[in-house]
Order: sequence, then structure tokens, then C-alpha cells
Amino acid sequence: MAAASLKLLCALLLVCISSGACQPCGPSSIQVDQHTTGRSQGFDLEFAVEVKNACSCAQSNVRVFAPGFASQKPVELALFRQDGTGAFVVNGGNAIPPGSTVNFTYWWDHATHFTPASAQPLCR
Ligand SMILES: *[C@@H]1O[C@H](CO)[C@@H](O)[C@H](O)[C@H]1NC(C)=O
Repeated sequence: MAAASLKLLCALLLVCISSGACQPCGPSSIQVDQHTTGRSQGFDLEFAVEVKNACSCAQSNVRVFAPGFASQKPVELALFRQDGTGAFVVNGGNAIPPGSTVNFTYWWDHATHFTPASAQPLCR
């Protein structure tokens, strides 16, 4: 009896690990880092932003909150744009592979605070 339930537990654990379902995914697995590049123009600094998918599965529909976000120079919209819900969609909502980053730059006189809002894990 005990041996049978132990076997079941092991099997479940294996499925869980191999499918990636045990890994933390969703917004908590989205890491947003940014740094200034050293380039500036007038009062504006160039900021390089890296949005990393730390989940072991690809994730699509990655969205972040970026209150007050603005840029003096155009931002690559395919990578980062307002989505009409108050959040910003990363990579056009397309899947970001596990461990990959999406990078974009913006120009402003101070840094925006980015907070991961949502992400849809594509674990198989
Ligand atoms: C994003 O930037 C980081 C740091 O510069 C770099 O390691 C990474 O390869 C970049 N990713 C892409 C997709 O360009």
C-alpha cells in the first residue's frame, strides 16, 4: 500500500518536472532590468530595457505596467507598446522562449518603473 502510493508520488513528480509545470511561471517569472547606456541628448538619457522570461516554458502575452512611460524617441512598437488596457504588451504578445530576453530602448529624463503584469505560460 505505502509502496504503491510512493510510486504514484514519484510518477507525479516526474511528470511535473519534465513538463515544466513545477517551475514558477506567469508574471513572477518575468524579470525587467534596465540600465542607462551612457548616451544622452539634452535632458534625456537612453535607457536599455531587458525583459527576461525566466520560466522554463515559452510565454506569450507578456504584459507589464509602466506608469507614466514616455519616450522622446520612438520605441520599437513590435517590442513594446501600449495595449489599451493600461498595460504595455511585450514582443507584440508573441511567445518569448524560455530564458530569452526582449530588449528595447527609450529616451527620457528619468527611469520608468516597470512591473510585470501578466504572462501566459506555454508548457507542454
Ligand atoms: C538583450 O541584452 C542582453 C544584455 O545586453 C544580451 O545579453 C541579450 O542577448 C539581448 N537579447 C536580445 C534578444 O538581443
